[in-house]
Amino acid sequence: SEPLRLGIAGLGTVGVGVLKILQKEAAMLTARTGREITVSAVSARNRGKDRGVSLEGYAWEDDPVALAARDDVDIFVELMGGSDGPAKAATEAALKAGKDVITANKAMLAVHGQALAELAENNGRVIRFEAAVAGGIPVVKALTEGLAGNRITRVMGVMNGTCNYILTRMQSSGLPYEDVFQEASDLGYLEADPNLDVGGIDAGHKLALLASIAFGTRVAFDSMELEGIGRITIDDIKAAADMGFRIKLLGVSQMTGRGLEQRMTPCLVPAVSALGQLEGGTNMVVLEGDAVGQIVLRGAGAGEGPTASAVLADVCDIARNIRLPVFGQPASTLTEVTSASSATP
Ligand code: NAP
Ligand code: HSE
Repeated sequence: SEPLRLGIAGLGTVGVGVLKILQKEAAMLTARTGREITVSAVSARNRGKDRGVSLEGYAWEDDPVALAARDDVDIFVELMGGSDGPAKAATEAALKAGKDVITANKAMLAVHGQALAELAENNGRVIRFEAAVAGGIPVVKALTEGLAGNRITRVMGVMNGTCNYILTRMQSSGLPYEDVFQEASDLGYLEADPNLDVGGIDAGHKLALLASIAFGTRVAFDSMELEGIGRITIDDIKAAADMGFRIKLLGVSQMTGRGLEQRMTPCLVPAVSALGQLEGGTNMVVLEGDAVGQIVLRGAGAGEGPTASAVLADVCDIARNIRLPVFGQPASTLTEVTSASSATP
């Protein structure tokens, strides 16, 4: 069969990770999917930057929108970030030009997911976003595929690697905030705007996307009860530890009689619990279904390799012609819900 040709916009932590896997594992990916997977063209802001990976053989486009519409691109891979601007413009251009889209961009999907899902479906295309939620953990696939026979009753977990890294490193090392923040940055965990991380917004975006899939509802990020870790001090962390607890930025989403409850807030959890022992950039997502009961997914929530792993899973799905709707069911069937979060004590 014909090669599957990618156009990749964004050559930062995630984009470089994706290229490294594609270059190292080309034969394995072809064996697994039955198709050769190639890269036609790439785009980033600074053409001259050394990215530690070869760009030989790839065409260069300064403009990601032009990249998205190229004739030699079958899948547009959006790894730039930002809820609007070039990421959204290029994603729309790709869908209109008849390309499938893979993105790691939870900020864009949390705001424009519904409109982009409709655009994709109206053009007979798919958008896949495994990398957007919990890094390397295949939680979108778990919900849309593995648990498709369940009514999901609750989604909860720790979904921001930066916050978990900062909270656990401050507690275990006694290092000041500035030092552990820099460590998280060096590990490639941070958003371009780190306020999205420490403000809880990035984790809130992820929870809103999972809630949409889990409960068949439109993405309702605006109605989430949200608080980041900005007000947590080292004294809070030590006091919690003295009492046998850890502070975690914990998300919970469930359908109640009053509507959809969505909360992403710092919580005390027992130090001896699985959540309490979650270290560094690790994420944990707990899914509860009426048939399956509770399942727990745990793994690297951020960084080059884990996030690239999730992007490649989506590439392989499309190569295998697995073309699920963006939120697990057609966008037109997602329901509007009342928010119960503001009423939650
Ligand atoms: P990053 O390291 O900051 O890289 C962003 C890339 O996008 C850079 O290569 C940048 O070009 C390029 N870019 C930005 N604006 C552009 C524009 N207008 N035109 C062309 N290229 C542009 O970001 P990242 O960490 O790889 O994250 C990328 C996406 O993945 C974001 O949506 C993020 O939320 C998501 N994500 C990241 C992680 C993670 O662990 N890092 C995990 C899950 C999801 P230059 O390099 O030339 O500046
Ligand atoms: N900034 C995000 C985090 C990247 O720290 O979890 C992964 O989505």
